[in-house]
Amino acid sequence: MTVAIKKPTLSPAAASFLTKELKMLIDGKWVAAQNGKTFPVEDPATLEIIAHVPEGDKADIDLAVKAARKAFESGPWPKISPAERAKLIWRLGDLLEQHADEFSELEALDNGKPVTNARNGDIPGSIGLFRYMSGWCQRLNGETIPVSSAGDWHAYTLREPVGVVGQIIPWNFPLMMAAWKLAPALAAGCTIVLKPAEQTPLSALRLGEIIMEAGFPAGVVNIVTGFGETAGAALAEHPDVDKIAFTGSTEVGKLIVKAAAGNLKRVSLELGGKSPAIVFADADMEGAIAGTADAIFYNQGQCCTAGSRLFAHKSIYDKVVQGVADQANKLKVGHGLDKTVNLGPLVSKEQHERVTGFIQSGRSEGAEVVTGGAAIGNQGYFVAPTVLANTNRDMKVVRQEIFGPVVCIQSFDDDSLEAVAKFANDTEYGLQASVWTRNLRVAHMMARKIKAGTICINAHNYGDPAWPFGGFKQSGWGREMGKEVMEHYTETKSVAAKL
Ligand code: NAI
Ligand code: MG
Repeated sequence: MTVAIKKPTLSPAAASFLTKELKMLIDGKWVAAQNGKTFPVEDPATLEIIAHVPEGDKADIDLAVKAARKAFESGPWPKISPAERAKLIWRLGDLLEQHADEFSELEALDNGKPVTNARNGDIPGSIGLFRYMSGWCQRLNGETIPVSSAGDWHAYTLREPVGVVGQIIPWNFPLMMAAWKLAPALAAGCTIVLKPAEQTPLSALRLGEIIMEAGFPAGVVNIVTGFGETAGAALAEHPDVDKIAFTGSTEVGKLIVKAAAGNLKRVSLELGGKSPAIVFADADMEGAIAGTADAIFYNQGQCCTAGSRLFAHKSIYDKVVQGVADQANKLKVGHGLDKTVNLGPLVSKEQHERVTGFIQSGRSEGAEVVTGGAAIGNQGYFVAPTVLANTNRDMKVVRQEIFGPVVCIQSFDDDSLEAVAKFANDTEYGLQASVWTRNLRVAHMMARKIKAGTICINAHNYGDPAWPFGGFKQSGWGREMGKEVMEHYTETKSVAAKL
């Protein structure tokens, strides 16, 4: 299949951002990298260079951490009242809303994702998160503790910001990942050094502009663009960073843990997944087919929660395979900026090679390619939405995270929930699972039996600012969003006064 890829024109706002000489945000100022170097940013649909950004490294991370430390210890930020902090965070959400179209375009251009997905998902999701988290500023109360020690005591706890936070984010939801990281850290009163992914630095830099416009003091949020092995590694091992929050590959997550050992900084990790979607025989077939197809093809399959292992009961297996393949064939592939497109390119050459390599491996291990199975497009990093049937637990495509629009379907013929859960849990990951059934008992019993941080019933890739999100097993440490995330950005201090 050949798809002709044409790039629609950008709105004046997005185009004007790209004509600027892009710089990093350190201590409230826009600066070049100390080494003077920049690196190119590519449109993954056309391979055109759309911008250059500073190639920050250790020297810039040092400056950014110094600025964040200064802003944390002195200056206006630690003296701002919780209500004022809440107002600033809410205002940031408002500014994002005002520029929602521009952010959607930058996201689609930089990452490749359909602009309508960005406009209906990434951008409102980020706005909602800032607004939700602003509410925590005034709710971070401690407790009084009824201690039993001899004598009279007044014992209580305080919740204090953890300090200077390093945040390293990936390229699949560039703005939303920045929001997930920044919003709770700001609500707690921390200061931040954010390192966006090298593939997608644009929306974070634009976000930096509205952060300053909202009125955050200098040094509260610093944004350093650069590569993982240099800037990212320097941030993870920095002795004056109190906490590191990371989203990305499990492989790099393990490096972060090692790097954090130097000063025992706190670590939270959102890592890979190989999430099961389980369709029972009694499911609403139309909903289950559309939902499980979307679970893997949304964002070109570049979701940590992607429903990449699809299990269908043997009595409906053929119907599910055909139905998901039909859904795949209906997707319109093209440039992310085209409002009629459902599937854009993968983010980079590296991901394109990785995903096509996995498809090849599936074929050679005996999977049946029902649809897709190849790179497409006259240019760019496009891969056809791919359905692999007759897969089994021993195949590499079933064991490893592919991070592309490739679903591996297996059938199950056991009606014991214990046995079904065992298939679902046969992975080193545990980020999300979905259960498709009309039977309430089956749905909630499966929710208990599956070892994953998030379970969706008759849905997949669900998220909400109030809903804690994170993984069991090698999918990570800790939870983002909800009240749980505030634990990561605060220290509990216990105070005892002898009366
Ligand atoms: P990655 O884990 O290398 O990159 C994520 C972030 O970590 C980026 O900001 C990167 O600059 C930074 N980083 C890389 N090496 C680092 C280091 N040594 N120290 C500190 N920071 C470092 O992910 P990559 O290479 O872009 O993608 C590879 C695979 O990882 C994907 O195919 C996918 O399977 C998985 N992945 C999972 C994501 C998720 O949402 N859980 C997001 C992105 C990738
Ligand atoms: Mg990497």
